[in-house]
Amino acid sequence: MLPNILITGTPGTGKSSLVARLKEFLNFNFINVSELVKENGLYESYDADMDTYDIDIDRTLDELEGPMAKGGNIVEHHACAWFPERFFQLVVVLRTNNTLLYDRLAARGYSDAKIEGNMEAELLESVLAEAYESYNENIVMELPSDTEDQVDENARKIIDWIRRYMRGEEDYPKLSEDQDDDDEDYEGDDLAHYNGDDDDDAQLSLQCDSYIQ
Ligand SMILES: Nc1ncnc2c1ncn2[C@@H]1O[C@H](COP(=O)(O)OP(=O)(O)OP(=O)(O)O)[C@@H](O)[C@H]1O
Ligand SMILES: [Mg+2]
Repeated sequence: MLPNILITGTPGTGKSSLVARLKEFLNFNFINVSELVKENGLYESYDADMDTYDIDIDRTLDELEGPMAKGGNIVEHHACAWFPERFFQLVVVLRTNNTLLYDRLAARGYSDAKIEGNMEAELLESVLAEAYESYNENIVMELPSDTEDQVDENARKIIDWIRRYMRGEEDYPKLSEDQDDDDEDYEGDDLAHYNGDDDDDAQLSLQCDSYIQ
């Protein structure tokens, strides 16, 4: 079965940008939890001052159970503690330098209170701490998201991880040292779409080996 991957991080760290890149290469099912919640009214209340929704967690989890059981999901959300641990085989936490994060949030026209809240969360590494508390540390992958190049690098690291996972390599949850330091040019356009619709494991493994380079 294909893995489920969570992309998390403080608002503005670049989850949607990374997901957009991954969508170019992976035929996974992509779920943006905030959009799912808004589109389906899965919230208890709306805070107009902060422009935030108080998510109805039980109903949202009910909605997620079906797709998660099938595997092959890439889920994007700015928090991670309330998902069951069993949902994910990889938890990616994006990190951004605070000056850059300020500029990104200000460019969105966020209120001072909302900018400050998010800046503080990033400075205190709140999402990273939440990930380490909620999941096995071996499946948590912290990635820098300061520059556009890093969007490509991070996409490549995640695709490499999927390939190792599908091959059943024992060290798949961790980045090996040479992959960490790997500065080879990213030949992303050579990657064919990875089709997760087929549920024959051997076939998937083969597809993975042949299509993801
Ligand atoms: N690695 C990066 N380098 C430079 N700019 C980036 C990077 N990642 C994202 N950005 C820019 O920062 C802004 C916020 O990015 P994005 O919308 O992807 O963040 P997000 O984590 O999805 O936020 P939210 O939690 O609010 O949905 C966008 O303008 C995007 O172009
Ligand atoms: Mg987003």
